[in-house]
Amino acid sequence: MDVLARIDRSRLPRHIAIIMDGNGRWATGRGLPRTEGHRHGTDSVSDVVRASRELGIGHLTLYAFSAQNWKRDRGEVSTLMDLLHDYLARERAEIMDNAIRLTAIGEIERLPPHVFDRLTVLMRDSAKNAGMTLTLALSYGAREELVRAAQAAARAAVAGTLP
Ligand code: FPP
Repeated sequence: MDVLARIDRSRLPRHIAIIMDGNGRWATGRGLPRTEGHRHGTDSVSDVVRASRELGIGHLTLYAFSAQNWKRDRGEVSTLMDLLHDYLARERAEIMDNAIRLTAIGEIERLPPHVFDRLTVLMRDSAKNAGMTLTLALSYGAREELVRAAQAAARAAVAGTLP
């Protein structure tokens, strides 16, 4: 049975946020390399985005890659960046056709140029889409975000533009 058909659409949240966790455990539990878990995790992202759009969820936030994740093994980080790049390339049409607005939070300037470029181009091209907002948290840390907000406020105070 279609799982979406069982959901009571009158009681849906406006915003769903998902911490992408457990990819590694999922894979090692099956005797597979961790990167296989990340590959399957990326497929799940496609499914979740499609289902959320279909249900009429306004905002979907995916905590995909934390600021701390840069400390992982170089090979794993590189696989994750490639998966993200390929996801953005593969899902571009789906995102545009379904009026999804792509945004990002986190220090996206730290992403490798090929990922940064794909991401920012799609963010720009989808900026006027009004069907659903998909936010990817990339190189994201809550502490880092607070620090950046405080620094921006301090700069504004010095410039005399803080109300
Ligand atoms: C958590 O699993 C997952 C991650 C650290 C990375 C998730 C990111 C991707 C799969 C890249 C593609 C992203 C998108 C949005 C398409 P874990 O390794 O922490 O698992 P564990 O807790 O079992 O060790």
